[in-house]
Amino acid sequence: MACSSDKPLVAVVMGSASDWETMERTHKTLDTFGVPHCCRVLSAHRTPELLAEFVRDADAGGAEVFIAGAGLAAALPGAVAALTTRPVLGVPVQSGALNGHDALLAIAQMPSGIPVGALAIGTGGATNAALLAVAILANKYPEYALKLKQYREEQAAKVASTTLPC
Ligand code: RP5
Repeated sequence: MACSSDKPLVAVVMGSASDWETMERTHKTLDTFGVPHCCRVLSAHRTPELLAEFVRDADAGGAEVFIAGAGLAAALPGAVAALTTRPVLGVPVQSGALNGHDALLAIAQMPSGIPVGALAIGTGGATNAALLAVAILANKYPEYALKLKQYREEQAAKVASTTLPC
């Protein structure tokens, strides 16, 4: 397991090493905001017991948000949500014959009672999952609220200063 701290506030899990290319965006965005987090490859169907152990340990260890990325049938975010009452954000990884649409539906169509917040397919969703996690943490930690405000202001300034060759 890769951790930026021994007290991670966000636990990031993905179903396969092949998901890292996408989920690296989540890791990098959390790093940008200085959010202590852990990243781990664990699968709902290949390592269900290790997954349960990871979620329970992270929850007990103080993780306040979980982010789960998976492709294809994408059971992982729902499996994580079954094991914790913390907010769980799901990232559909763009892969396979259906290009991530299967994962999006699997994550978005959680039955009533065990919610998962579904993000967009692919790298955009992976980045936004981290930003949403920062927004959740910002309700409790003013430092993240401030950083998020600065991040939005930087985006606005960039757009406002864009010039076109016409
Ligand atoms: C899912 O199956 C993983 O999240 C991954 O996106 C997909 C393919 O996994 P590999 O066959 O590349 O390990 O469980």
